[in-house]
Amino acid sequence: MLPLSDLSVQSPHLRNSVSLDGPWHIIIDPYETGARNMFGEPNPFGYHLNRSPATHWSAEYDFANSPTLDVPGDWNTQRDDLLWYEGTLWYQRDVPVLPEGERHFLRFGGSNYETEVWLNGQHLGVHRGGFTPFDFEITDHIDQRNYLVVRVENQRRRERLPTLDSDWWNYGGLTREVLLVATPASFVRDWFLHLDTNGERIVGEIRLDGPVQDVELSIGAVKVTFTPDDDGRCVVDVPFAGALWSPDNPVLHDVQLVCGEDILRDRIGFRSLAQTGDQIRLNDAPIHLCGISLHEEALTEPRRAHSEADARALLQTVKDLGCNFARLAHYPHSDHMARVADELGILLWEEIPVYWAVDWENPGTYADAENQLQELILRDRNRASVALWSVANETPVGDARTAFLTRLINHGRALDPTRMFTAALFMRPSKETSDQGTIRVQTMDDPLAEVLDVMGCNQYLGWYYTKIEDMQDARWDSEVEKPLIMSEFGADAPLGRRGADTERWTEDYQMAVYRAQFAMQDRIPFLRGTSPWILKDFRTPKRPLPGIQDYFNRKGLVSERGERKAVWGVVAAHYANKQGTTR
Ligand code: GCU
Repeated sequence: MLPLSDLSVQSPHLRNSVSLDGPWHIIIDPYETGARNMFGEPNPFGYHLNRSPATHWSAEYDFANSPTLDVPGDWNTQRDDLLWYEGTLWYQRDVPVLPEGERHFLRFGGSNYETEVWLNGQHLGVHRGGFTPFDFEITDHIDQRNYLVVRVENQRRRERLPTLDSDWWNYGGLTREVLLVATPASFVRDWFLHLDTNGERIVGEIRLDGPVQDVELSIGAVKVTFTPDDDGRCVVDVPFAGALWSPDNPVLHDVQLVCGEDILRDRIGFRSLAQTGDQIRLNDAPIHLCGISLHEEALTEPRRAHSEADARALLQTVKDLGCNFARLAHYPHSDHMARVADELGILLWEEIPVYWAVDWENPGTYADAENQLQELILRDRNRASVALWSVANETPVGDARTAFLTRLINHGRALDPTRMFTAALFMRPSKETSDQGTIRVQTMDDPLAEVLDVMGCNQYLGWYYTKIEDMQDARWDSEVEKPLIMSEFGADAPLGRRGADTERWTEDYQMAVYRAQFAMQDRIPFLRGTSPWILKDFRTPKRPLPGIQDYFNRKGLVSERGERKAVWGVVAAHYANKQGTTR
């Protein structure tokens, strides 16, 4: 049974919609004055009513005469006095015209972290999680004149995901697009179409919302009509002889779904991906993933990326590096990324922010993790580029953690049995002494690997620990026969800081680390991919070193403005030699 998407409207940009992007009035509200009274109780006359002294003598706020911020966009980089702000901020805008249709939805592409929404003073609901889409049906709340008020709060909290500590900037606000979407009374609410295990048929499901009526599915020249069951569900199983999607041939097929007046046109790639022993196989052939990790920051500006243009600039750069793979760390990026990766032919690792020491025993934290994973999978599971769902990054091994993540992986597999599950793990270092001397051994023995398809490993040999030369005799072992992706490695260097290749914090040292890493990795028999840390320098409160970091993590191959460092050439050359190889 295809779990019904908790998104009322899949792929809204395929539908009749009106964008609410642009300037919204804002009120910065660190003391929650707009939501609570002096005793901390909910305030029935709060900012959600969008009053002003002109309409109510007691009002001490006035959105219409308040400053504005651009939506989509993080608030931190739009105003100097908001760069470090963590707290509550209110947004307000009037709703212009509504798109034509019988049912209306208000959809947010993402908002960090807790988002509460009112339309015309009517409470629509609350969403938690900073990186996945959500929406509300507003059909019954529409007036002649409509206005929206949105409260966004981005405090770091122990029970949240990410938890209190993370090595990236806590960008807050309506960071992604906001759309008004219209549909007919009956519409296609969710669909999941993929190649069957033999690669000869397209299988999956379509789910309607509203009065049940026939659905016509076209995939290229193949056209089939389905009569849904009473739940509005159609089981799809149609012949397919089209070209398969791959990074070298990212062919997308025109897919159309017609349900009465509801017409959806999508472009979907079909391919098979599997873990077989310690190999990753694409369309039944082994593949080596030449990749890079990315945070969601625009290529030439250190701000949250959000637009299709942002996605295209980042992923074209990934392609220029010679990659067929990208790790979208450490949280779901905008839905533009998977669509652009479909077009460019880049396989993706997508991840939810179960990062470091999470509150494993807290049921609310698990529910948040499950919801973020579900909203990500339901958003992107029709995207051929998405190869791996990652449920965690560098989480300390323990019984509660492994139980939490195992449960999460099982939930994910129920939503999407077609993709591989992974997580960025640690290796266990040891030394082995024999009559030939002592060598360093790195062993993959995290118990979570039992339930993963692919192991990720983050390690900073040559940077945080051991010397560069200690990599030359390192041996890697694994306790399970699974493929390994070296999901992080690297070194910090500000653009333009040059010196000896033994001098830390120089581009020359950064290159020396990469050369030693690649030489070591070429000796790992079960290594099937790499995503070095990281495409570009990014903002983080954890990196204050003056004159070198200045609150940026400097492990990028390019600067925070997108200027290439010397190490770019080392990685590009390594990948050029890897093209077409299986390890
Ligand atoms: C960590 C982590 C990254 C971090 C990186 C670093 O292990 O996964 O989020 O930025 O390594 O230390 O630079």
